[in-house]
Amino acid sequence: MIWRDDWSFGAGDMAESLTITRPTDGHLHLRDGAGMADVVGHSSRVFARAVVMPNLAPPIVTTGQAVAYRDRILAALPPGSDFEPLMALYLTDATPPAEIRAAKASGAIVAAKLYPAGATTHADRGVTDVGRIAHVLSEMEACGLPLLVHGEVVDPAVDIFDRERVFLERVLAPLVERWPGLRVVLEHVSTREGVEFVGAAPPRVAATVTPQHLLLDVNDLLAGGVRPHHYCLPVLKGREHRQAVARAATGDSPKFFLGTDSAPHARSRKECGCGAAGVFSAPAALEFYAEAFEAAGALDRLEAFASLRGADFYGLPRPAGTVTLVREPWEVPASCPFGEDVVVPMRAGEAVAWRVAAGSEGG
Ligand code: NCD
Ligand code: ZN
Repeated sequence: MIWRDDWSFGAGDMAESLTITRPTDGHLHLRDGAGMADVVGHSSRVFARAVVMPNLAPPIVTTGQAVAYRDRILAALPPGSDFEPLMALYLTDATPPAEIRAAKASGAIVAAKLYPAGATTHADRGVTDVGRIAHVLSEMEACGLPLLVHGEVVDPAVDIFDRERVFLERVLAPLVERWPGLRVVLEHVSTREGVEFVGAAPPRVAATVTPQHLLLDVNDLLAGGVRPHHYCLPVLKGREHRQAVARAATGDSPKFFLGTDSAPHARSRKECGCGAAGVFSAPAALEFYAEAFEAAGALDRLEAFASLRGADFYGLPRPAGTVTLVREPWEVPASCPFGEDVVVPMRAGEAVAWRVAAGSEGG
């Protein structure tokens, strides 16, 4: 990591630029078709690779579908890009253990995703009960394929703010105990209890952290008016939870790493009577993290969080090449092209303090 300080403008000891190994996005929604072609460049410009979520409609449930989806992503990349899509399989009640072996053998698939049925966008074909995929989890444990978890119960008796905490008690704790060799990622951790659970678990259990759960809380969603572009699942929590998530991400535990959960939805699907869940952070994702790390006085840990811990968890080589962040305020676009509609990014039209310098790409 290279620091450059500029003393001549009275910036004191504030870093003016920061160069880090190209980051890995541990959790990214790219969608498909024209929308995918419009958004993938936001990520490939900055990230060396990303774990691409399989919740298309219909979902990616076979190795063949995952490989075909990967090929469509590769074909949509800007010319010259060496961005690497790492694929994940969508688990259903009917996933056969043989599919896990095929996924592992393909080399294209790095994980399988557990969506509790109905928990989030396109999760209707998810798993209704972990007991139904017991043989699949045993196969994943045996062949070393990590399990990514959307950690929320769907029980209507549980308030939306409590769904992650209750999931830890009812589902995740017993799961981690029953499969002692399974590597598990609690995706988009959003609560103090989630952070504590992962912190206390064995080293094979990790969590991804999104920019919105680091920078925003429920007041940014609901105070002074409903802000649909801040609505995602897990829903933003109270300040205390945001602070716990920020402490974990900016601390020195290798268990917490970057996963943007950038999840584009057409503006018409967000600004309507029943808006879809998902925050589109890709146009300024690394810059948002830099802001959060700077606020925590932890810019020197941004590289570990963004570029090293996730790669290490997945057993991937650290990517060649670097990206440079410069302290140069710019404005997040009001909207970005997205197929036949547009998508409104996180903090649209607002200033961000850091900018990824052009030409950072390359390994
Ligand atoms: C994601 C999406 O839109 O696909 N939405 C979200 O609010 N995070 C799905 C998910 O990761 O839960
Ligand atoms: Zn997601």
